[in-house]
Amino acid sequence: MTDQSPQEQVEGIKKAFEDDFGRFARFIDDPSALVNLEEATAQQRAVAELRTRYLGKKSSLAATKKLIGRVPSEERAAFGQLVLALEDKLETQIDQIELSLGKYIESERTARESIDVTLPGRRPRSGHRHPITLMRERLEDVFVALGYAIEDDREIETDFYNFDSLNIPLNHPARAWQDTFYTTDGFALRSQTSTVQIHAMQRRGVPVRMIAPGRVFRRDTPDPTHNPMFFQVEGLCVDRGITMAHLKGTVAEFLRRVFGADTVTRFRPSYFPFTEPSAEFDFSCFKCKGAGCRICKNSGWIELGGSGMVHPNVLRAVGVDPQEFSGFAFGFGIDRMCGLMYELDDIRLLFENDIRFLEKFE
Ligand code: DAH
Repeated sequence: MTDQSPQEQVEGIKKAFEDDFGRFARFIDDPSALVNLEEATAQQRAVAELRTRYLGKKSSLAATKKLIGRVPSEERAAFGQLVLALEDKLETQIDQIELSLGKYIESERTARESIDVTLPGRRPRSGHRHPITLMRERLEDVFVALGYAIEDDREIETDFYNFDSLNIPLNHPARAWQDTFYTTDGFALRSQTSTVQIHAMQRRGVPVRMIAPGRVFRRDTPDPTHNPMFFQVEGLCVDRGITMAHLKGTVAEFLRRVFGADTVTRFRPSYFPFTEPSAEFDFSCFKCKGAGCRICKNSGWIELGGSGMVHPNVLRAVGVDPQEFSGFAFGFGIDRMCGLMYELDDIRLLFENDIRFLEKFE
């Protein structure tokens, strides 16, 4: 204890409190002196500390209360009143400031949470499908209507599916123009969707009618018409008695459905290891109707894909007897079709994810 008299001690507590309380006093009458909600809650915490410091069990005031019994009896009543009056005063003042801060905080919180219903709403920006997806879905619709199933398959393949089973043995020159990306374990990114012909026949057996849209990869240097990753659609129809007439009819009908009823299709003899005979197919330019324009490079025709009668070796690779079954297959690029239809000067635009470009396809 100090050598101050008990009365002096009470006086000391009173002065110290007045000093400490001074910085809060202004908020009682004018809570707007507070800058913001954060400051108000900080002040609220400071007031709670003030209460413990002056009124808590370990406060000096609590210590002086214990002195009441020790002051001389003639001074006791007066001293007791002095201590209790101070306690009362501190309590009232602290209560007042707490109340005032509490009210301010509550009203600020309500204001923050309230919504001005008269403000115009913020419309969420809605996305849309990628042009390649839009085209793929359109093609799928056409072929589903013709009775074809849609197949989806793996993008990483073994040599067997990408080459051998498709009648492209090791050292076959076709492996060179379809060079792709290899991993260390004998796997490669498929260079054509023709791989799905094999998977589909293994899975479904024959007869089969399916198309397989999907991503393919080639070791190509990107330029306006090439990309090392692009999309193809494969088609396969195997049954008894399938002839080249079915191939021509199917391709011609699909092109009419996509490019218009007056579209003319032509086939040019070609070579693919997995078909015999093989043909590439072109269709009359949808823009100039064959008169010649920039899109068809003034030829009136647009080259689209490859096709042919499924090679007997391909059927044999999946255990189908070529004496009993025959079929046709075809394949073409979706990005190339997108490029044509949307008149893109550079096919790489499709993969740059530039929102200004993609927004045009809504
Ligand atoms: N796979 C060939 C390519 O990537 C396209 C193709 C040609 C697919 C002829 C076929 C086909 O099914 O019969 O160029």
